[in-house]
Amino acid sequence: MLRIRNFSTVSKRLGKLPAFETVRDKFKFSSETSTIQSILQQKPNKVVLNGWIDAKPKKVGKNLIFGTLRDPNGEKIQLVDSQSFLKESQVEDVVQIIGELSEKKQTQQSTVNIEYELKIIELQKLNQANKKPSQLQDLKADDGAFPPEYRYLQLRLPKYQNNLKLRYEASKNVRTVLDSLNFTEVETPLLFKSTPEGAREFLVPTRGKIDGEASFYALPQSPQQYKQLLIASGVNRYFQVARCFRDEDLRSDRQPEFTQVDLEMAFSSGKDVREVVEKVITSTWNKLHASGTDLHTLDRTGKIIPVSGTEKIINLTYQQVMTQYGIDKPDLRYPDLKLMDLSEFKAYGYTNKEFPVFEVIVLRKAFETVEEFHRDWSYLSNKDNYNYRAPIVVPIESDELGTSWFTKFLPIAAFENPKLITKFLNLRKGDIIIGSTREPSRRLFENPTPLGRARQLITQSKRGKELFRKTDASVAAWVVDFPLFAPVEETAEKGSHYPVYTENAFSSTHHPFTMVNLRDYNKLESDPLSCHGEHYDLVVNGVELGGGSTRIHDPELQNYIFHEILNIKNPEDLFGHLLNAFKMGTPPHAGFAIGFDRMCAMLCGSESIRDVIAFPKSISGVDKVVGSPSTVPASTLDEYNIVSK
Ligand code: AMO
Repeated sequence: MLRIRNFSTVSKRLGKLPAFETVRDKFKFSSETSTIQSILQQKPNKVVLNGWIDAKPKKVGKNLIFGTLRDPNGEKIQLVDSQSFLKESQVEDVVQIIGELSEKKQTQQSTVNIEYELKIIELQKLNQANKKPSQLQDLKADDGAFPPEYRYLQLRLPKYQNNLKLRYEASKNVRTVLDSLNFTEVETPLLFKSTPEGAREFLVPTRGKIDGEASFYALPQSPQQYKQLLIASGVNRYFQVARCFRDEDLRSDRQPEFTQVDLEMAFSSGKDVREVVEKVITSTWNKLHASGTDLHTLDRTGKIIPVSGTEKIINLTYQQVMTQYGIDKPDLRYPDLKLMDLSEFKAYGYTNKEFPVFEVIVLRKAFETVEEFHRDWSYLSNKDNYNYRAPIVVPIESDELGTSWFTKFLPIAAFENPKLITKFLNLRKGDIIIGSTREPSRRLFENPTPLGRARQLITQSKRGKELFRKTDASVAAWVVDFPLFAPVEETAEKGSHYPVYTENAFSSTHHPFTMVNLRDYNKLESDPLSCHGEHYDLVVNGVELGGGSTRIHDPELQNYIFHEILNIKNPEDLFGHLLNAFKMGTPPHAGFAIGFDRMCAMLCGSESIRDVIAFPKSISGVDKVVGSPSTVPASTLDEYNIVSK
């Protein structure tokens, strides 16, 4: 129940009660209405339409006003008004119109591209909008977006209506496929416990105390631990369209609260899980992708091909993607953009002995004039675009530079046989060569490498897309064989060139519940960093669409990982619930979570997940529509045992 305190004072401050007639009229409407689409199919004579006044009505004759109505589907029809109904109308007023449909006469004046118009017989204003068209126009940013506090105006546009509908269709399809595979949807608690699982979490204060201290729930980063408890509970195949919460830096593909299609399967291996996920993804893509193109993958030769009953999504190892693309989530729509390790030509990086590999990428025919190079590609050498060092970028401005190019890389690399490489690379005027260093292939922890990041920037740039993207289809791959642990990075000083790792401190590359590959089992003791994990990511168009793993279900091994490798001092306090369940007959299990917002954004052909979330947070985590987060009175803090500094 919503309790409003001090109700009498609030109502006093609101002032005068609106006149009965004005309020009453806002509720006078018929609920038997049509849509523009339906009336264009059936062409009835008299129609009732609901919607918004879309553009400023125009007086076109003594007794004639033209307007436009936009219905709830975002479709528009021209209004013809000979009784001055629209005289006082503002853009975004919400109205019900009774009118007569007829073929359009004065097409030249119309803003709407259909052959029919609606003559207004009656207009009922159901609510008004208080901004003038010019004010509304002024509100908009260059890209036509309304400011975030007016999200509801943005959402009225057909693009967003379609996105929300597509999102709903996608969730229906996911449920249908999983239902056909005998999954059960189970809801798990949102009030969870604070445990280190990866990202920073959101805490929820309670009014109770534990041993005299303030106590908190935490919102789940994912239902990971509860879903493993469900496996212990005998739920054989679990799934949930689940809300997750992470207090991390936001980007176009990250929100603090987001949705996963989360699943877990008992008595199953990672391979079984990947088969299920593949069914869900391919079916959803092939039914719903806005462009109508089926999901694609690579064949063994690297050719882009559709995923089908016989052609499964390709498996690429972490080492393969890191050495070929320099990142664990490569965009595979760019088959020509591959990194080349020049060690076999006896070229080496010498500025840091942990980073001895010198690698390059060549952009063929990328510019014609120097101005063009600066306009289109200068961002590639901008340090701010990189975590550590930026690569060296060399535009081949003359054929002469095509042979002396390597001198530009001498500050970071030594070349024993530059002639041989020059012959191999065959650089021409208009090409760009980009080079940098990385760790050796068996220990690739810097992710992305500088060249991997450069490749990512290229694939995300307008010019890069024009020149190098080879398909409009979405291209998927499984990335497998990740290292199970990564060394903990020391906080980098600004401007440092290389990551520095803390000695003997490890973190899980995915999460601490992932099983080690059995072939590396014995190395857990001697060299944890060389162990591979039973973890798999699904990567589509350079985006990590989902991740999962085979889990540890042996309590001793799980405890060993927590305590001996991750150096968690009190695993029993934090994870005792899981360890105890593992001691009570938990079956072997594996699972996965699809980033549902990311999937929907791709299905809609959108670059940002904000386009498929009704009320997303801004980059600083703010919801400007409602004004959250907000402060609360000191008395409330007190109730929650919180002292504000
Ligand atoms: P992971 O952390 O890889 O795995 O998350 C799974 C997928 O969720 C999506 N995702 C996000 N989407 C939007 N905003 C975010 N802040 C965000 N963070 C993650 C990504 C990602 O691939 N429990 C494990 C899964 C498992 O092992 O079963 C998990 O959460 O698409």
